[in-house]
Amino acid sequence: MQSKRHRHYALVPAAGAGSRMGKEIPKQYLDLLGEPLLRHTLRTLCQAPMIDRVYVVLSVGDPIWNERDWSDLGEKLHPLYVGGATRADSVLNGLRAIRGDAGDGDWILVHDAARPCLAQWHIDALISTLDDDEVGGILAVPVADTLKRSNGHGRVEKTVPRDSLWQAQTPQMFRYIMLRRALETAREVTDEASAIEAAGLHPRLVQGDTTNLKVTYPLDLHLAEWILKNREA
Ligand code: C5P
Repeated sequence: MQSKRHRHYALVPAAGAGSRMGKEIPKQYLDLLGEPLLRHTLRTLCQAPMIDRVYVVLSVGDPIWNERDWSDLGEKLHPLYVGGATRADSVLNGLRAIRGDAGDGDWILVHDAARPCLAQWHIDALISTLDDDEVGGILAVPVADTLKRSNGHGRVEKTVPRDSLWQAQTPQMFRYIMLRRALETAREVTDEASAIEAAGLHPRLVQGDTTNLKVTYPLDLHLAEWILKNREA
C-alpha cells in the first residue's frame, strides 16, 4: 500500500531581539556577507527540494522586513507577523497561524533564523532519517569538550560526564499536531524537542556538524562568514 506523502513545512522563528549581540538592529537583520543574516537562512530552506513552504515568524509590526526585497527567494516564502514574547511563543503562534495550510500529519521543521550556515545536506540528513519516524527528531552534535558545572562563584563544582551528551541544534522536525499540542502544554521550553520530551516521547538524534552554529555573540558572525565563504569556494 502506498502511504500518503506528508508535506514538509519550514517554520523560522525570527522575532527575537538578539540582545546578546549588543547591537540596535535585531540579529536576524545584521549584515552577513553583504546581506541580512536571515536571508542566508531562508535561501537554504527555500532551495531545499523537499520543503514545500517556508514560513518566517516576524515580530508584530516588524519594521525591517518590508524594507527589503525577498522576491528572489521565490513563492515558497511566507511572512507571518505573529511573533511572541519567547521563542516558544513565536513558534506556537506560527503553528496556529498556519492551521489550515498544514495538516495534522505534515512535518514541521523549526529552524532558528540565527543559524545561517545550514546546508542542504543537513536538511537531507534530517528528512531522510526521520520521514518514517513515529516521533521526529533534531539535528545535534555529540559534545566534544569536557564539561564543568560552575558553583556560581567562578569555580568548578564538578565535572559532568560528557558520554551520551549531545548539543541540540535546529532544524527540529515533528508532526504538526504533535508539536502544537506539546507546545500548548509545555510553554517554558527553549526548543521544540523539550516540549516533545515533556510529553513523554523520545526525539531521535540526527548527527549534524558544528558548522550549523547559532549566531549569538559578535564573534559568531565572523565564524559564520568564514564558514559560508569557504563553503562557496
Ligand atoms: O535568542 P535565541 O538565539 O535563543 O533565539 C533563537 C531564535 O528564536 C532566533 O531565530 C530568534 O529570532 C527567535 N526568537 C523568536 N521570538 C522570540 C525570541 C527569539 O522568534 N521572542
